[in-house]
Amino acid sequence: MNNPSLELLFEFLRFPSVSTDPLRSQQVGACAEWLSSHFQSIGLSSAVYPTPGHPVVVARNAAKPGRPTVLIYGHYDVQPEDPVGGWSSAPFEPEVRDGILYARGSADNKGQIFAHVRGVATALAEHGDLPVNLIFLVEGEEEIGSPNLEAFLQEHREALRCDVIAVSDTGMVAPGVPTLTYGLRGIAAMEVWVKGPSVDLHSGIYGGAVQNPATVLARLLASLHAVDGSVAVDGFYTGVLPLQEWEREAWSRVPFGEKQIEASTGVAAVGGESGFTALERIWGRPTAEVNGIGGGFQGEGTKTIIPREAFAKLTFRLVPAQEPAAVLEAVERHLQSQCPPGVTLDVRHGHSGSPYINDPESAYGMAAQKALQRVLPGVGVALIREGGSIPIVNTFERVLGVETLLLGLALPNCRAHAPDENFPVANFEAGMALNQALLEEIASAYRQKAGA
Ligand code: BES
Ligand code: MN
Repeated sequence: MNNPSLELLFEFLRFPSVSTDPLRSQQVGACAEWLSSHFQSIGLSSAVYPTPGHPVVVARNAAKPGRPTVLIYGHYDVQPEDPVGGWSSAPFEPEVRDGILYARGSADNKGQIFAHVRGVATALAEHGDLPVNLIFLVEGEEEIGSPNLEAFLQEHREALRCDVIAVSDTGMVAPGVPTLTYGLRGIAAMEVWVKGPSVDLHSGIYGGAVQNPATVLARLLASLHAVDGSVAVDGFYTGVLPLQEWEREAWSRVPFGEKQIEASTGVAAVGGESGFTALERIWGRPTAEVNGIGGGFQGEGTKTIIPREAFAKLTFRLVPAQEPAAVLEAVERHLQSQCPPGVTLDVRHGHSGSPYINDPESAYGMAAQKALQRVLPGVGVALIREGGSIPIVNTFERVLGVETLLLGLALPNCRAHAPDENFPVANFEAGMALNQALLEEIASAYRQKAGA
């Protein structure tokens, strides 16, 4: 390997910075320290800021008047590596096979944020300066919903004042296709417990006369959807912006769709809300998902009981301009109203994040499009939304008052959150070039704005 940036990315990837695992918090902190030292080694000033959870790393160059301030956000925390048996090579021992880098965090998000870091390192080494005032904000709690970042933004609002934010934590629709994401879904999480008898009951002695909490739960979960695949909760769709004609048209030209989804997931046929294509369902429509379900006897063989309780973990993916709190309330009202006498329903609201949308043709949106086109010429820029969530992006708009440009570098088969997560070395290198083009184009858009 003769690419020093790749060697450094390997070091970054070797930290098992799994934010959700309390046993790994030491390694999460060590990863933050390593990143901060690296920022210093390339000529930025940098510090590690503790939070009640995992630390935030902030690095910057010396600000100069007359140029825009760009904040680049990313996260150094990763998802757990399990199921470990699914990996072809160890998750925290990065390995390149056929030009593709395999490691937990290679795509989500260490490889992508580090492409920006190395783009800046290269520019600083070559020119001694950047075309913009730059702030890197790299957090360690994105994969657990960024519980401490909003307070951090509020506290450091002045120091983090900027003109625009750039994030590479999304995808590219196909190899070599420059992709600008102008919308993200939001998320709202909920846990539901159906509770019945005070102990598990003999299903022969009591069955038929006592409500079965597992059966009630199944009914409640089934009642979340209508037969046409839409969500059957009163008020769920309040505020949902209808898809615009231009986006349906633009998305229909994206070289990714039902066939690729079927191939990459192993399902025989895609499914969902009728009246929408698969991409429209993922990028532009809200959903209700059961993430986990449990209760009753799980062992081998048969056990004739009526379980005393059953539970489910739910998340809702939201689109502009749904409000997470309003959605959770609507769902809770729906479930309570469907719940028969003889059982009680306990509902716990979990973390949430608002959806996001911006104008891909704003001045900085156009700067992003030009930068993408410079680095990946030949194919036009795909303008898309994504189904995943980066809750802090909406918070950036609310607290810092600026838009976020989402320039994704991961491929559809990157296996984020799954075994064999991967990121092509070519995308890492394209990301470094993209960083330099982006900062130049943003500087030029800023000058045009100032001159106008
Ligand atoms: N990078 C993803 C978000 C993403 C995934 C954007 C796919 C676009 C396409 C991010 O790290 C992530 O996984 N976010 C979580 C947020 C949640 C834990 C609050 C998600 O979307 O589930
Ligand atoms: Mn991510």
